[in-house]
Amino acid sequence: MGESLEKVRQHYDEVADIYDNRYNRNRGRFYYNHISSQVMDCIPAGSRILDLGCGTGLFLKAYERHGGSGVGLDLSRGMVQRAQSRCAFSDFTMGNAEVLPFRNGCFDAVSSLLAFSYVRRPGQMLSEAYRVLRPGGVIAICTLGKNLLTSGLPAIYGMAEVMKVRRIGMGSFGERYYDDQEMQDLFEDAGFTGIQVRRCSFAHLNLADPFFGIARKIEPFVEEKVPRLAYNLLARGVKQE
Ligand SMILES: C[S@@+](CC[C@H](N)C(=O)[O-])C[C@H]1O[C@@H](n2cnc3c(N)ncnc32)[C@H](O)[C@@H]1O
Repeated sequence: MGESLEKVRQHYDEVADIYDNRYNRNRGRFYYNHISSQVMDCIPAGSRILDLGCGTGLFLKAYERHGGSGVGLDLSRGMVQRAQSRCAFSDFTMGNAEVLPFRNGCFDAVSSLLAFSYVRRPGQMLSEAYRVLRPGGVIAICTLGKNLLTSGLPAIYGMAEVMKVRRIGMGSFGERYYDDQEMQDLFEDAGFTGIQVRRCSFAHLNLADPFFGIARKIEPFVEEKVPRLAYNLLARGVKQE
């Protein structure tokens, strides 16, 4: 494993015990439900999926509630252990999303939430996802997009690392944020068709009140009319039949 991936793995091992707190409370829960329901809408209910960078299994647990099951893969042992205790109908394994230990065509769908920005070789991850999907299978990825609001994050996260702040995602991990065209190109290069890329989420959990409340109210408007302001990108593609 390269040095920077090792750093990501170590970070998530260290924060595994506090990761869920982020999404337990009001804002965090709203934010996570918002993005995960949009990923959920892209993939068929009740099938068997692969969740890349699965973390503590939040998405797979939600997918299980929709009658499905799956396999979660993550770099961090600490995160995987939490996921295992959360999801009764899914399996988990440690690994790098760029090299998948699964045979060709064995999943109905691939999901990935808030992990793609850490991936060193995004094209390689998408080619691997394409390989393990069955023909007609769907991929849906939600990841931080490149915009005015996210452009300052690497500097803030870098400072947090220097100040030894123990907060989820805070550190210099060489994260990459993509714009719509870059995601479109990456999906096309991996062979996907039916590609749709759009922006989602404006009410971010880090916003303080009253800004969070306001952002929450205008989120539907932002997503439809000024999508460039939304934090995340949601990209979907299909493996050819
Ligand atoms: C912000 S967390 C998101 C976790 C989960 N998807 C969720 O929605 O809560 C990012 C996760 O991606 C994992 N990760 C980062 N790079 C990875 C890679 N190349 N392969 C597998 N997992 C990776 C990290 O270990 C971490 O658990």
